[in-house]
Amino acid sequence: MRITVIGTGHVGLVTCATLAALGHDVVGIDSDDEKIKTIRSGRSPFHEPGLEELMNREVSGGRLSFTTDPAEAIAEAEVVFLCVGTPPKTSGEASLVAVENAARLVAKHASRSVVVAEKSTVPAGTAQRVKRVLELERSAHEFHVCSNPEFLREGHAVEDNLHPERILVGAESDVAFEAMRRVYEPLTAKGVRLIETDIQTAELAKHACNAFLAMKISYMNGIARLCERAGADVVQVAEVMGSDSRIAREFLNAGIGYGGFCFPKDLAAFDALARQLGYDFGLLREVARLNDEAIEVVAAKVKEILWNLEEKHIALWGLSFKPNTSDTRLSPALKLARKLLDEGARVVGYDPEALANAKNDVPDLELANDPLDAARGAHCLVVATEWDEFLGVDLAKLKELMVYPVVVDGRNLFDPAAMKDAGFSYYPTGRPAIIQ
Ligand code: UGA
Repeated sequence: MRITVIGTGHVGLVTCATLAALGHDVVGIDSDDEKIKTIRSGRSPFHEPGLEELMNREVSGGRLSFTTDPAEAIAEAEVVFLCVGTPPKTSGEASLVAVENAARLVAKHASRSVVVAEKSTVPAGTAQRVKRVLELERSAHEFHVCSNPEFLREGHAVEDNLHPERILVGAESDVAFEAMRRVYEPLTAKGVRLIETDIQTAELAKHACNAFLAMKISYMNGIARLCERAGADVVQVAEVMGSDSRIAREFLNAGIGYGGFCFPKDLAAFDALARQLGYDFGLLREVARLNDEAIEVVAAKVKEILWNLEEKHIALWGLSFKPNTSDTRLSPALKLARKLLDEGARVVGYDPEALANAKNDVPDLELANDPLDAARGAHCLVVATEWDEFLGVDLAKLKELMVYPVVVDGRNLFDPAAMKDAGFSYYPTGRPAIIQ
């Protein structure tokens, strides 16, 4: 099929590459000239495992191209995916200006009937707005709007798109359903389930999924607070809970909380939508409160251990919002860095992929080129993001380099017994501390 993807951010670029890999002819369009230049030079503007290779393979194969020219990109498209950003306003609501503008571009440049698929995460009711914009533009062509939310995780995005657990399409016309069945036929032929609903159900289901996952994390962070007080072990509690198939083990890891550009903003937008619809969904705000508290707890722990933070050197391992990404947007690690810096500490961070983004976000943060370098002369090491690389660090060397052998593990990355054997005072999250 001839497919156009508007917006080549994280969702859009992965969508471009994977739809081309499924055999479609795909054009990706973005108004950001620099971004398109980078992509055309064969580089992804962000770190995503497997993306650059796939993108370059499909470009060389002739199925994928990129442009900044909407006329060229949209004219012949059978399906246009809207993958533009929906950043939060100060009220928490999602800003839908880019979605409206993208819809207008489609109406202006279409030269045939088009299926318009929303992929960006949007509040329920957005598709009806998109439909209205398309009508008001008085195009000579027919438009069929549908919702096709993505469920990809950064760091696994290519894999998630090529082997999804399910595909969700909300539509109100057979033309739209039929087109989306054709788009995803290579996957459904292999047994992937395609769930079809009305449009607002699909839109709302996406927010419901993300809010639920965020709730699982915050629930466990609340349990961690109880475990810390009761002397229990949150990791073992998670194992027990997760062995119940009704609960499932994923997303039960207590730590310094969730971040990234999805959960925090989606939760706020979902809460705003609930209020607009006349329902006070207070649970969502409690989830966000527990998430903020998770960072406070780690910061308080560091302060309690080190007493005065002025003139203390704190090593911070992991700066991205989760492992396997260079993305630092709303990263709990950077929120923690700011807090420690505000208290007067010197903070030296290390991350395998996110150093440049972190420096941009928190200029006062000092950076090191490897984990041991960050810890040289440190009074305390805080693990903020659980990169596998940290597990390979020589603990004896680490201890030798530090002024105080103190590790605060905000992600429960390390094995407490190994930390004990290596002679560290070890403070995990929601598990008994080892003080020596
Ligand atoms: C999330 C969802 O997982 C995807 O399904 C969804 O498509 C995506 O948002 C989106 O809406 O675009 P992502 O933001 O890439 O994906 O990251 P996750 O892997 O979900 O992690 C989110 C945050 O939760 C991270 O900061 C992570 O460290 C934290 N987390 C995750 C925990 O603190 N504990 C856990 O047990 C799991």
